[in-house]
Amino acid sequence: MIKTLTDILREELPDLDFDVQTSNDPERGHLSTNAAFFLAKRDHASPMKMAEELRSHLHKHAPSDYFEKIEIVAPGFINVWLTPDAIRSEFKRICKTKVWGKGKKRKETAIVEYSSPNIAKPLHVGHLRSTIIGDAIANIYDFLGYSVVRWNYIGDWGTQFGKTIVAYKKWGDREKIKKSPVEELSRLYVKFHEELKQHPELEDSAREEFKKLENGNKTNLKLWRWFKKESLKELSKIYNRLGVRFSIYIGESFYQDKMEGSVRSLIVDGLTKESEGALIVPLEKYGLSPGLIKKSDGATLYLTRDIANLEFRLDEYKPSKIVYVIANEQALHLSQLFAIADLRGLGEGVELRHVKFGLVLGEEGKKFSTREGGVIELGQVLNEAVKRAEQTIKERKASLTLVEAKRVAQAIGIGAIKYNDLSQNRLSDITFDWEKMLSLEGNSGPYLQYTYARLKNILRKARVVPKLKASALEENRDFAIVMKLAEFPEVLKRASQFYMPHYLANYLYELAKKANSFYQSEPVLSSTPEFRNVRLNLVKETVKILKTGLNLLGIETVEKM
Ligand code: ARG
Repeated sequence: MIKTLTDILREELPDLDFDVQTSNDPERGHLSTNAAFFLAKRDHASPMKMAEELRSHLHKHAPSDYFEKIEIVAPGFINVWLTPDAIRSEFKRICKTKVWGKGKKRKETAIVEYSSPNIAKPLHVGHLRSTIIGDAIANIYDFLGYSVVRWNYIGDWGTQFGKTIVAYKKWGDREKIKKSPVEELSRLYVKFHEELKQHPELEDSAREEFKKLENGNKTNLKLWRWFKKESLKELSKIYNRLGVRFSIYIGESFYQDKMEGSVRSLIVDGLTKESEGALIVPLEKYGLSPGLIKKSDGATLYLTRDIANLEFRLDEYKPSKIVYVIANEQALHLSQLFAIADLRGLGEGVELRHVKFGLVLGEEGKKFSTREGGVIELGQVLNEAVKRAEQTIKERKASLTLVEAKRVAQAIGIGAIKYNDLSQNRLSDITFDWEKMLSLEGNSGPYLQYTYARLKNILRKARVVPKLKASALEENRDFAIVMKLAEFPEVLKRASQFYMPHYLANYLYELAKKANSFYQSEPVLSSTPEFRNVRLNLVKETVKILKTGLNLLGIETVEKM
């Protein structure tokens, strides 16, 4: 039903990010949309006038028993009342559908690239954001029926390896690397930069060592392979704890022998220029600084590898979209990459998308780090979250066995971190506020998990949920929940189209709030058979959507907490 409304509007406004929301106030109808403002902006007209036009358009295109009335409210909102029959039949449809919101399998591949840490440089929480956001986006696309390739483009090549090799040869310790490779390699990298201040000649040694690595020097190759192996082992432990997986780990080193071909194509197409001995691709046409393809010493760059990477992806997977989940800071790099793709006519018709995100700030609003030098140990951040969740559980004195409590703490702690990230607009900087993140009240992961567990408890007590008799569905009270449930598929579409997981997170929060306040005031189990039937069905569908939605965000639900 929301679908009908949205579909009619979408036909008019295919690319605009307007929304159709269920309203919180029955006085304002069941649904309301801001679509007229978007149309007004596009057509330089007044929102009120556009709202009028939309209203007649809606009346013309909807089934005849669909709208009860449509009201326009200054400065241009459209409020919609649906007929009780429309709402009842929608609820029947929701109850009958096995997985509400799930899309049919389609023959389209989406490559979603996320996490992509550098294994010889300090990991930072930005990589945690990329991991969390990317995983959610991949899950949503998968749910909507795409074939999703989850790609971890690890930073396993580049001059930084020269630095790490120099540092290891000078100050490294085999055992320490074995014990905690990511931390130790980061430490070496940081130490290299500290020493560099006194000993600028280290820069040359690093270049030398990397050159040797590129040329296949045995010792360096062996070191590089070992660093990589140990780091990936440790990373996969973190991914396991986060419940995140990848279909492919193809990183920068893979493109070493493919870059020459890409560079040649650029030259053949006449897109390059020499500049002070280096090879560049001028990009004034796009308002961008030139893309650096080769340094004067012949070394290739991050951008060169990404060009080869893009060509490979297009050839091998024939995707309809490639989504790069990478921090705001790399916006220029991605713009250059996409501009070069455009110049070369690569991937015409393929959507290339930089899904950007802001920084993670600590509680005082400073860049989040646990240690001098910006070295952040993701494992420790996760430990901290779980420890705090354990505390919360203890305080609640829930009747859980020791084993259950451990599992619940894990789900809540990790869920809190993920939800904190995914419930905020990804473009903004987010804060890492432990208290708020782990609170059982307000817009938090634990609150949603708690709501889920509580509703699940009602179903457990009821034992069976009878087949729906929709006629008993009460106007206003029950309708409000139905409207919210009905919104789910549209929310997913919008979250996917704009790569905004917070649309989904905030929807789940709204749903949970509605469900909580409803079941606080209306009895379910003890009401008359008629109402009991309807309400149990409402609880059941709410529970299903909460679970589906949270899982799409990569958050586990727990049955008791
Ligand atoms: N490894 C890079 C970093 O940590 C991120 C890679 C992003 N992906 C890409 N295709 N460039 O900064």
